Amino acid sequence: MGLINFFALASLASIALGSPVPLPDTFRLVVREDRPYNASLPNVTIFATGGTIAGSASSSDQTTGYQAGALGVDILIAAVPQLWNVSNVRGVQVANVGSPSITPEILLNLTQQVQKELDSPYCQGVVITHGTDTLEESSFFVDLTIRSEKPVVFVGAMRPATAISADGPINLLEAVTLAADPDARGRGTMIVLNDRISNAYYTTKSNANSLDTFRAVEQGFLGFFINIKPKFYFAPALPLGKPYFDVMNTTCLPQVDILFGHQVLNPTLASAAVESGAKGLVLAGMGAGGWTTPGDKVIQDVIEKHNTAVVYSRRSMDGYVAPTGTFGYGGGFLNPQKARILMQLALGAGYENAQLKTLFEFDA
Ligand code: SIN
Repeated sequence: MGLINFFALASLASIALGSPVPLPDTFRLVVREDRPYNASLPNVTIFATGGTIAGSASSSDQTTGYQAGALGVDILIAAVPQLWNVSNVRGVQVANVGSPSITPEILLNLTQQVQKELDSPYCQGVVITHGTDTLEESSFFVDLTIRSEKPVVFVGAMRPATAISADGPINLLEAVTLAADPDARGRGTMIVLNDRISNAYYTTKSNANSLDTFRAVEQGFLGFFINIKPKFYFAPALPLGKPYFDVMNTTCLPQVDILFGHQVLNPTLASAAVESGAKGLVLAGMGAGGWTTPGDKVIQDVIEKHNTAVVYSRRSMDGYVAPTGTFGYGGGFLNPQKARILMQLALGAGYENAQLKTLFEFDA
């Protein structure tokens, strides 16, 4: 018989039990007709969004200037037949773009589909393929908007699929292996790249070119892979103060902009951002969140006149920004790009001053 994917089998089984499980609202489902459903293996769904892992260049030595998000999820899956040794896999194409083009609408659609999938008893884990440039933002977003013990694993690649020694196939195999592993439950959203497992909450892209780019220098890795098997350093744990936002019925999020701090920064950029629609600002401040005196005047002004929500973060790769004690909020351990996502979710949920203060300064 033509072989059927696990979701079809799962749906048939549920219909037989009299409780049909609705198919998720997907743009495109990719079904491998040539692979048997293996009832002894877990079921993992791969949601694809584009990026270098789906990138294509004109020659095998080209590792910059290629088209990110060129190949479909079916091609990514077909390139790694070993996937079928660790799980039944199903691919869902959510988007196919370079990650700088990921929008709040794509993120909302993605997380809603992932939540529905995780709610299904037939899904044991989820993998999301994504460009590495903004992976830390999307994975943080998903981490804050998913409620499930099941593993959610973001994966990308630093070399396009057409490159010699492309890293995408092994990264994808490790990500699916992790998503299928019961030991990976209860650890929040994770990131897999270059044999490392890290946590989406703290991890950042540290190098524009190298394979070993994802790091949480202070908080460290959760584990690594040996012979494509995950090995954890710690028992499951979640970051302190991690909030949850239910966005299952959310269709858009407010504009929040990041301003970069430097000597003689232009103070008027803050009011220009607010005039162009920003409801919140994140300041990538100098040192532990420092801004200039003329810059602070404009910030205070936009807060008072427009009720703009402002978070002081830092342009340094690591560190803690304490509560300001005056206006604005200290961003704690969050880097500017993660603080921006948190601010969008909080403003989208209707948070006001006192709630924002508690959210960002929970450990003060
Ligand atoms: C992107 O982020 O889409 C391009 C770069 C990458 O995936 O490494």
